[in-house]
Amino acid sequence: MLVLGIETSCDETAVALYDSEQGLLGHRLYSQVALHAEYGGVVPELAARDHIRKLEPLIGDLMSSTGRKLADLDGIAYTVGPGLSGALLVGASLGRSLAWGLGIPAIGIHHMEGHLLAPMLEADKPDFPFLALLVSGGHTLLADVAGVGDYTILGESLDDAVGEAFDKAAKLLGLGYPGGPAISRAAETGTPGRFDFPRPMTDRPGLDFSYSGLKTFTLTTANNHDLDDQTIADIALAFQDAATDSLVIKCRRAIRKTGHRALVVAGGVGANQSLREKLAVLADEEGARVHFPRPEFCTDNGAMIAHVGCLRLQGGEHDALDVSVRPRWSLEDLRPPGQ
Ligand code: KG4
Ligand code: ZN
Repeated sequence: MLVLGIETSCDETAVALYDSEQGLLGHRLYSQVALHAEYGGVVPELAARDHIRKLEPLIGDLMSSTGRKLADLDGIAYTVGPGLSGALLVGASLGRSLAWGLGIPAIGIHHMEGHLLAPMLEADKPDFPFLALLVSGGHTLLADVAGVGDYTILGESLDDAVGEAFDKAAKLLGLGYPGGPAISRAAETGTPGRFDFPRPMTDRPGLDFSYSGLKTFTLTTANNHDLDDQTIADIALAFQDAATDSLVIKCRRAIRKTGHRALVVAGGVGANQSLREKLAVLADEEGARVHFPRPEFCTDNGAMIAHVGCLRLQGGEHDALDVSVRPRWSLEDLRPPGQ
């Protein structure tokens, strides 16, 4: 089964072709980062308009680069939520109507399910059940993944998402947008131990997260010092250490609580090198394995949507003819394919 996947939930226009027998055939991505950079964050209306401009040419490029024609497709999958409603509507409208025109089934996919199962695109796939740490600009959660479509949320952020905290901290330090890569670059030259930031929510039991306090701590520290390059690097390092430590501490608790031996990390913050190193140490200490998708499949991409779309279409699922999106949608509402 050959499936076209479309992702337009936020600021990346992304498409991919996934074949049930041959795996991923190709993927294409256009990032709107430069468009939003001058505003210091994603402007929803601009995002939606840019998806309109970029999506159709990107699909054309994907088809010609893989030597496939639209007529070869057996189904189309597109992200319907969670995300920005105007942006989601672009992918859902084009995907739904293209499928109608071709006379093939279409299916709306949960963006976070795409991230959760992205490590299955790699040769070294995790076995079910596994733990998943989803860390992006919009979400911070730990989930127990019993199988495809069988998710229990063990903990999540009570306020800001960790990626959002990286973005806000970077803005406070004048490091630009997106903040995650900027903070981790600055942290490379930071002085270990100059600042010690609190590890949020780690002094009490449970698996929830909180990042707004860390943001305030960063703001107060920045306000109390002259922000020369070294101080900025030192604060970036202290922030990154605190933000990643709190994730690692919760992952350790979740491994011990569930007894699961595999931990999958997904979402944009999963690209953070310091987090990757700390989780590798954790896995070693706990006798577990940590699986990362390749960096381009950690951030938003079309491959993860084509992949989940293929699993669900093969399970006999498909959507009705109307175009609808679900900007807010819990992972726990999902069911295994076909159920
Ligand atoms: O998954 P993603 O591409 O988009 C969604 O939010 O769905 O994640 C984007 C987030 C941004 O907040 C960005 O700052 C963060 O991931 N990010 C990073 C790194 N690369 C991206 N955070 C920390 N370190 C990084 N290297
Ligand atoms: Zn995402």
